[in-house]
Amino acid sequence: MAGFVYRYCVKQNHQQIKMDPSFRWEDETKASAAMTIPKDFRTFRIHNDTAGYRSGIETIALDDLNPGEVVIKTAYSSVNYKDALAGTGQGKILRTFPLVGGIDVAGHVVASTDKRFKEGDAVLVTGSGLSEARDGGYGDYARVESQWTIPLPTGLSLRDSMILGTAGFTAALALFRMIENRQTPSMGPLAVTGASGGVGSLAVDIFSRAGYEVHAISGKAEQAGYLKSIGASEVLGRDALATTRPMESTCFGGGLDNVGGTMLASLLAQTAPYGNVASAGLTASNALDTTVMPFIIRGVSLLGVASAGTARDIRDEVWRRLANDWRPAHLDRICTREATLDQLPEVFDAMLAGKSHGRTLVVL
Ligand SMILES: NC(=O)c1ccc[n+]([C@@H]2O[C@H](COP(=O)([O-])OP(=O)(O)OC[C@H]3O[C@@H](n4cnc5c(N)ncnc54)[C@H](OP(=O)(O)O)[C@@H]3O)[C@@H](O)[C@H]2O)c1
Repeated sequence: MAGFVYRYCVKQNHQQIKMDPSFRWEDETKASAAMTIPKDFRTFRIHNDTAGYRSGIETIALDDLNPGEVVIKTAYSSVNYKDALAGTGQGKILRTFPLVGGIDVAGHVVASTDKRFKEGDAVLVTGSGLSEARDGGYGDYARVESQWTIPLPTGLSLRDSMILGTAGFTAALALFRMIENRQTPSMGPLAVTGASGGVGSLAVDIFSRAGYEVHAISGKAEQAGYLKSIGASEVLGRDALATTRPMESTCFGGGLDNVGGTMLASLLAQTAPYGNVASAGLTASNALDTTVMPFIIRGVSLLGVASAGTARDIRDEVWRRLANDWRPAHLDRICTREATLDQLPEVFDAMLAGKSHGRTLVVL
């Protein structure tokens, strides 16, 4: 593929690169100018072989990537907890090696064998096996499957879409599932655990945009102001969910749990009748020691949220909501850091040490 020339132009960070003299500024969703896919380009790649588990910057060619119908000149990716686990080897995320890291990517199409996508189209992919079973978004180019490629929804820029990324999609998917199961604002506030993190911050913003009162549960007392500024009406310490009795007084209409373990069990025990608790994460623990009491006495539902494998029709609907009535109002505040590929190792370490908050946008 190296040496192929495509008409292409990109508008990134309000700057344009590789300008074609015939180019006229249009919506970010379409772009055109002359671009050659270089013979080699930079990626952040993960290996696990006889030399051990390692990751870092590596120059590869397009045909080193897994096959796929759509080639993207990437603009942005993001850092999710799963990326940090994969990049450091602290979690078993990759099912094959080597792979380019990054579970999210957004950019412009430079080549497509699927006629639904044209050169210059702005697109995004989240989850869908990226950096798990196939090469991901941490590179100057990505080659992806068209079945999981989403046209950039009207109302979002490429940058917005990656501040959201898997984290925003997961928060919105949790709300989608809760509402499908009849959650309403009148049932009481929604609790969000791990609230200062990526999924947590976006859940606080999205849930409040959707009309719910949000109680943010966070171990970072110093981030209370931040959490209120993005939509939380109350900020509680983790000790609010430290109870271990099978049933407690009801404090929440439901919620989204990003941490697992005791806090999830306690949230179930404090949820109002027929409320929904969505389980998305395990930053504290993958264990759940609970009883059937909240389920059989109060009709509480525990809903699973698995963003990576979400069906295409639900995926499309969740992104449509994210670009419209659930569009977070504070994306710029939630994007607390921009990083390059070279800075990823330090971003991963800070995240796994619990020292980051909000979202890190990867600028490619
Ligand atoms: N199911 C899915 O589809 C899906 C999708 C995306 C992410 N996830 C999972 O969701 C979780 C959050 O992901 P993320 O990208 O938002 O990560 P993140 O940005 O690192 O946020 C995680 C947050 O969890 C809290 N936390 C960390 N260690 C904790 C501990 N020991 N006990 C209690 N709380 C702790 C912290 O919030 P506070 O300091 O504010 O308490 C931290 O900011 C991860 O487990 C991730 O794997 C799942």
